[in-house]
Amino acid sequence: MTLSTPAILRTSAYINGEWTDADGGRTFTVRDPFSDEVITTVADLGSTETQRAVDAAYAAFPEWSSRTAADRSVILRRWFDLLTAHREDLATLMTHEQGKPLAESRGEVTYGASFIEWFAEEGKRVYGDVIPSHRTDARILAIKQPVGVVAAITPWNFPIAMITRKVAPALAVGCTVVVKPAEDTPLCALALAYLAQEAGMPVGVFNVVPTSRPAEVGSVLTGDARVRKLSFTGSTATGKKLMEQSAGTLKKLSLELGGNAPFIVFDDADISGAVAGAVASKYRNGGQTCVSANRIFVQSGIYDAFIEELSRSVGDLQVGRGTEAGTDIGPLINDAALTKVERLVADAVDKGARIVRGGGVADAGPRCYRPTLLLDARPDMAISREEVFGPVAPVYRFDTEAEVIELANDTPYGLAAYFYGNDHARIWRVAGALDYGMVGINTGMISTAQAPFGGVKESGFGREGSKYGLEDYLVIKYLCWGGLTPKQTGR
Ligand code: SIN
Repeated sequence: MTLSTPAILRTSAYINGEWTDADGGRTFTVRDPFSDEVITTVADLGSTETQRAVDAAYAAFPEWSSRTAADRSVILRRWFDLLTAHREDLATLMTHEQGKPLAESRGEVTYGASFIEWFAEEGKRVYGDVIPSHRTDARILAIKQPVGVVAAITPWNFPIAMITRKVAPALAVGCTVVVKPAEDTPLCALALAYLAQEAGMPVGVFNVVPTSRPAEVGSVLTGDARVRKLSFTGSTATGKKLMEQSAGTLKKLSLELGGNAPFIVFDDADISGAVAGAVASKYRNGGQTCVSANRIFVQSGIYDAFIEELSRSVGDLQVGRGTEAGTDIGPLINDAALTKVERLVADAVDKGARIVRGGGVADAGPRCYRPTLLLDARPDMAISREEVFGPVAPVYRFDTEAEVIELANDTPYGLAAYFYGNDHARIWRVAGALDYGMVGINTGMISTAQAPFGGVKESGFGREGSKYGLEDYLVIKYLCWGGLTPKQTGR
């Protein structure tokens, strides 16, 4: 891998402003998911070093939180500028450790940086309230304060954006942070730490603890009472465990968990728009996205025309090495991901689904699953109930609006849903009836720093991005100010 700033590739943890090895020099290996080649080895932290990171964040909190928002904003803005300046290196690093095509990695760096820029500004607008009092000699105020030390446990599918989406609002309002990145992608997290250091982030404010032992590090972060907030993106099963572990210290939580997004195409939809939206939503990041279209429902009247165009588009997608020009889809992240996709497809075919595009691993590489289109899918198939997290699109035919709403909502998940159609009355009805935290209407791309990202049901709670994203890192304090001169009319 060639980087124009080689220092961006870090292999030590970042704690209290210092690059630190694990106690005993323990390391773990980071591999390229396409070739399985070793990229490097990284400090493998355990509970003792994680405790030190919490100590550092706790010690840094009073000073950082007492700065003005404008002061913190200047540092965040410098961090944003550095991400932007180093976009190409960050994208190269990401494609090597995560596998996604370079164009998508570049897009993710821009997307990730946008959270820093957005919250550098929005952090200046944390307002409280002066509330009409119940007594003439008292005043009631509600002020907002940073919650305290934040632990962020982040996934491998968006190894930069899922960190900045949590860390930027936390830092903007005055919290300090310990990030535990996914074991598949610690390098992007450490590159962020390097750029934070370059941006002048004070020591202890932003710490990164790479590890191959997520349960050990997670239990320190959930068990330490000084950590006042945990923000997690990942599977619903792990989210539930972290919630249980956090109960002992009653942490404030944000959980952005799994999804099972329905993508509905009504008879009056624009076919080309709906196909482009389905491809973007389903095959972005090789389908390894919580908001990926997981189930595509197509109304009978438009079914044949839609499938013909979708099949052509899926057939055009190239799977391969992310650094090669022309690659649309990279490898799956690891062997477990591949096994899961193969199991879901085999079960669907067993139960009567037909593969009309793709199916199986391509010659390009052992984890390169072909972009796949499955017709005649049914709700009793495992693929209808589980998050696919791979480039496989099951398609279902439906007749009525009522029928598809019931099918779409028939899942414990409630992250994102999508639909295409042009009847305005139906758009309002369907948008209201879908039991999801986010709904894309005539678009397959909904993620942006300006909007509140998050789910309902077993997809979790809390919102990331937008003005609401700040609230997750704030607590309200009520001040009752008594003993004042009784208020006079008109004053
Ligand atoms: C995710 O997969 O968790 C996030 C995807 C996005 O931000 O669009």
